[in-house]
Amino acid sequence: MSKIKLAFIGCGGMAGAHLNGYIELKKRGLDTFDIVALADPVEANTARFASALSQVQPIKIEIYQDYEKMLKEQELDGADICTPHYLHHTCAIACLESGVNAIVEKPLGVTMKAAKKMVDSAKNNNKILAVAEQVRRWMGPRVVEWAIRSGIIGTPRMFFSQVLGGSRTNPDIKVSDHQITWRQNKLTGGAGPIFDWGVHYADLLIYFFGDVDSVYANTRKFSDMKYRDANGNPVDQTVEDTSIASIVFKNGVIGTWNYSHVAPGKSLSYTVYYGSKGSIYGDSNYPTSPQLHTWDGTTKDTQQLISEFLSATDKSVIQRYFPPELYPDPANLSGDYGVILEVYDFINAIRENRQPELDGWDGLKAQAIPMAFFESSTCGQAVKMEDIISGKIDAYQQEINDKWGI
Ligand SMILES: NC(=O)c1ccc[n+]([C@@H]2O[C@H](COP(=O)([O-])OP(=O)(O)OC[C@H]3O[C@@H](n4cnc5c(N)ncnc54)[C@H](O)[C@@H]3O)[C@@H](O)[C@H]2O)c1
Repeated sequence: MSKIKLAFIGCGGMAGAHLNGYIELKKRGLDTFDIVALADPVEANTARFASALSQVQPIKIEIYQDYEKMLKEQELDGADICTPHYLHHTCAIACLESGVNAIVEKPLGVTMKAAKKMVDSAKNNNKILAVAEQVRRWMGPRVVEWAIRSGIIGTPRMFFSQVLGGSRTNPDIKVSDHQITWRQNKLTGGAGPIFDWGVHYADLLIYFFGDVDSVYANTRKFSDMKYRDANGNPVDQTVEDTSIASIVFKNGVIGTWNYSHVAPGKSLSYTVYYGSKGSIYGDSNYPTSPQLHTWDGTTKDTQQLISEFLSATDKSVIQRYFPPELYPDPANLSGDYGVILEVYDFINAIRENRQPELDGWDGLKAQAIPMAFFESSTCGQAVKMEDIISGKIDAYQQEINDKWGI
């Protein structure tokens, strides 16, 4: 099979991590693809990417400022889309309609309607739509999923996740020195950190407990600190800084997930999952270093859990999670392997004509959880997840959909 031809759309911060992933694959001899084109309006960004790629692939890379021109001129198998959220759907749908498979950074779409259009486009054009979600590919989440599903903590009952901090932001600062970005604007970001970052954790919750039934939440923007526009003038941020949510899963699990970056003083960051026999604790929001505590006082640390997971799990499953050509010793993983695994999965999905581990529908379901927080807070009631996914409840998202004609 000839090499797969890939392009980047968006060559900013996170695309750099994807780029390192592709470069790492080539360095390890997994040279089944080339990055043949780059699209980003900022020339310094494409120049940086082209320079890094020239070290590992002896081909000319075509540079574009306009991704639509690139799609017209290049014969591509896949595109890696790492743009601001409000562009995800337009870029992805343009790719899919041009017959190009797409991997899109999370959250899949800026609204539920945008995400649904992307999923429909992939189906109608019979192309792969992958969501770039690296967190569940880490060892910690793999171990926690195994521990929960194999009954090690008994019947799952409840979870508590708290990420509260912000003590390093002086409350007397009324205008930040930082220039505002698309992230601090509801129309371009969709929402703030609980959507942007929280979608990773939402994906984990679905991975651990299955589908969500309903959500009740309050989101707030407590801080009135402004940012600067390009001319240095103060401008408001229009996204939340705090979210307090209660979630009910279809399997009966209940839990709370609280986030704030304007909680000065004492910081808290932990997640704990309780079952009828014990609990799994992680000292950050993502359970990267899980510990097991059972009712009888037994505790197991992360290394013990990893080795039990590896010996109890079918070898084919471990090799699917951690392909031996990349990670022959999964007990000792390091570096940004989640991103390497996600781009490798995308390339192999194209080569093998199969779905990636996380497709557009997975991305849509994950973003529906934080989006439900905003909808619940807007209407002041608990919301059913099916009403968020179907778009029946969308008061929070309406102005975003109107702005971008979604
Ligand atoms: N998975 C993770 O851990 C993680 C971490 C950070 C960001 N992200 C996600 O990655 C995506 C990008 O975030 P970022 O932090 O890299 O943002 P960024 O602002 O650093 O990069 C965005 C890039 O898109 C480019 N761009 C803007 N308009 C474009 C257009 N019309 N065509 C092509 N390129 C265009 C910009 O010039 C910039 O280079 C977002 O979806 C974000 O949520 C994921």
